[in-house]
Amino acid sequence: MDRFVIRGGRPLRGEVGIAASKNAALPAMAAAMLTAEAVRLDGVPGYKDVRTMARILRHLGARVDETEASLEIHAADPGNHEAPYDLVRTMRASFFVLGPVLARLGRARVAFPGGCAIGVRPVDEHLKGLAALGATIVVSEGYVEATADRLRGAAIAFGTPSVGATENVMMAACLAEGTTVMSNAAREPEVVDLAELLIRMGARITGAGTGTVTIEGVKALGGATHPTVPDRIEAGTFIVLSVLTGCGIAVRGARRDHLQALESALRQAGVAMDERDGALVVSCEGRWRASDAVTQPYPGFATDLQAQWMVLMALANGSSVVRETVFENRFQHVPELVRLGADIAIRGNTAVIRGVSRLSGAPVMVSDLRAGAALVLAGLAAAGTTEVQRIYHLDRGYDRLIEKLRGVGAEIERVPGPPV
Ligand code: UD1
Repeated sequence: MDRFVIRGGRPLRGEVGIAASKNAALPAMAAAMLTAEAVRLDGVPGYKDVRTMARILRHLGARVDETEASLEIHAADPGNHEAPYDLVRTMRASFFVLGPVLARLGRARVAFPGGCAIGVRPVDEHLKGLAALGATIVVSEGYVEATADRLRGAAIAFGTPSVGATENVMMAACLAEGTTVMSNAAREPEVVDLAELLIRMGARITGAGTGTVTIEGVKALGGATHPTVPDRIEAGTFIVLSVLTGCGIAVRGARRDHLQALESALRQAGVAMDERDGALVVSCEGRWRASDAVTQPYPGFATDLQAQWMVLMALANGSSVVRETVFENRFQHVPELVRLGADIAIRGNTAVIRGVSRLSGAPVMVSDLRAGAALVLAGLAAAGTTEVQRIYHLDRGYDRLIEKLRGVGAEIERVPGPPV
């Protein structure tokens, strides 16, 4: 297993370009199963999760061509309706194929998903939504099997605004007979991006980005070319890194309007975010202030930036509280940050962080994708050498991380094999 060796504590300076969003690309790839024509997604990097989804789509009978600049998926005549466990288990987003394959073929069988170990993460809202569209759902032997001759539009009120369930049901409803109205839908930019792709393919969708999304079913969808939305979590990660390392990193290609909760949390901490020459920059004078954060569905503070924010608070002036309300087990980075010298205590879903003046390098272990990002940030801010183990989690969703970090002056190397 590879690891990162980081020599931290240096100011970083330069520019970083943001990739297309992983969380938008994955459902977009699944959406390509809805049509017999080719769907091209521009600018999607070869994240490991993207390659996993490509393998699932190929298994279902689609052709997937990956080039550096785009990803083309052609599901002319998918011969298979099953996504097996050994492909699905590493990535929760595999479950996105359930809705599209069901809508296209009238039958889909998908293993219960795995993915980041950040809580129970049920799929009941996905299944409830598809059942409301008329699917018969059978769960057995670790698989979900959904069948329906023709899906029918319905009114669906989600119990919780789940990103994945909103996307899965939205895709299926595009080919249903009649109108579907989803209420308490997730409002994340990735939901909006998926709706924009589906509309390019011929779907009739209104209200994406609000809590109520209306989909008028159509008989068939066609091909499309789509520029995937920039990754707001990658952008947020580099913005936090910039604050930690002297405010010298310009983040290019991000959407500022997708980062408003982070911007206002930074403002509370005394850090101004601005746009300069088309890139996002931060300005700080000395140490930033402690500032509380509560994770919430969009437009609230993103749970996918909680771990990175905690690194910032670990080095802030004063004490702060971070509350995680989206997932029930998302503090696995905390013991690792404590190894680096952070002063953090957990009480239930709340972390109390007393800012310290410095962190110092130590060996740490990654538990999930965003925890991994936080540990890399902490290592870059800490004095001395930090070894980050189990970095395969980071490969799932950060595009060319080491090159981008080196590009702003970070001393980081990827060392193959087990730690010595
Ligand atoms: C997506 C993102 C993930 C992000 C999360 C929340 C992708 C590929 N992943 O995950 O990075 O952290 O949104 O912003 O886009 N829930 C249920 N029943 C369900 C589905 C979800 O109770 O059927 C709960 C979950 O346990 C969780 C909450 O709803 O507590 C939010 O989950 P959800 O929005 O579905 O997250 P994902 O789509 O899995």
